[in-house]
Amino acid sequence: MIISAPTDYREAARRRLPRFLFDYIDGGAVTESTMNANVTALREVALRQRVLGGVGEPSLGAEILGERWTLPIAFGPVGATGMYARRGETQVARAAAIRGVPYVLSTVSVCSIEEVARAGGDQLWFQLYVLKDRGFMTNALERAWAAGMKTLVFTVDMPAPGSRYRDRRSGMAGPAATLRQYLQAFTHPEWAVDVGLLGRPLSFGNIEAYVGRRMGMKDYTGFLARNFDPSITWADLEWIRDSWKGKLILKGILDPEDARDAVRMGADGIVVSNHGGRQLDGAIPTARALPRVADAVGGDLTILADSGVRSGLDVARMLALGAQGVLLGRAYAYALAADGQRGVEHLLDLLAADLRVTMILTGARTVADISRESLVAAEKEM
Ligand code: FNR
Repeated sequence: MIISAPTDYREAARRRLPRFLFDYIDGGAVTESTMNANVTALREVALRQRVLGGVGEPSLGAEILGERWTLPIAFGPVGATGMYARRGETQVARAAAIRGVPYVLSTVSVCSIEEVARAGGDQLWFQLYVLKDRGFMTNALERAWAAGMKTLVFTVDMPAPGSRYRDRRSGMAGPAATLRQYLQAFTHPEWAVDVGLLGRPLSFGNIEAYVGRRMGMKDYTGFLARNFDPSITWADLEWIRDSWKGKLILKGILDPEDARDAVRMGADGIVVSNHGGRQLDGAIPTARALPRVADAVGGDLTILADSGVRSGLDVARMLALGAQGVLLGRAYAYALAADGQRGVEHLLDLLAADLRVTMILTGARTVADISRESLVAAEKEM
């Protein structure tokens, strides 16, 4: 399939992946209204077209949390990435290293922290979920630090997994798991061979490293179901703030009050996010939440944003609404599933090309020039 636009990777991924896996990536919570609103609300953000400003060649690089990013874009944490393509997390890590952007490795990755660290560059970040088993968390933090991951993304919007109906139907969530999935795998032999499913069962490296035995798909879903912790409070975060020596970013902030609390607890940054509409269906889309959060805490910490970014133009919109950088989720998961590391790198090329033209047409010489002033008046008051 010929890829002309970043969104073409979704269709390419749909053709290659077994249905349960495509639905796992593509789906959201309940009616998927927030998931869809993320995309439409962002698309409705109108930018000011400015002419004859002599922008010249815009500079797409950004300085974020003391790091140099070649684009204001990072690969966000996406669980089970090693199921979309062979040793998927290492492929994304290599793409990120070559292109000079960060990659945030998910807690629930197929490849372990150590395997990814061997493959990737010096902009590897680690994402941690709040789990009941604090021993697991301590173990993961120590290993991430030892592997050179100095920025921790702590995801706070999953005290319990959201209700994802597609996953229930497919068996990705709940007890029906494996059998149906393995049957589907046989109808996608090219994919199954690529991820090594026919040779040996998939496993989850970080959980295995802790429990000390192989973790198949079923063990993994069981581990997650048992381990999410709805009793977590801000006070519980203090031990992480105190024990983690690197930068700390809270991911999943949507409300200005929570953003102020993040500042109070000493976070270096936040990711304004509703988890791509996979958690609270009915939550406000990120494009609408972001300006309110930026008004509340802009300048006090670094603001990143995700959910709904599908083009370089969307990246510019998130920056105009108050973010310093964006995380990609599904956009790169589709590209990886469709064409591995090459797809992920190509996706960045497509986004960079879009962003460049957007900057020229809006009169921005640097990404820092993209601000609230880049929005047409109606959006400023959103
Ligand atoms: C995610 N996301 C996520 N977030 C996180 O902190 N840890 C994780 O393990 C995962 N896993 C995960 C799996 C899949 C398949 C998806 C699609 C998403 C959320 C992710 O980091 C990000 O917030 C959203 O994907 C952003 O929304 P868009 O851009 O995908 O619409």
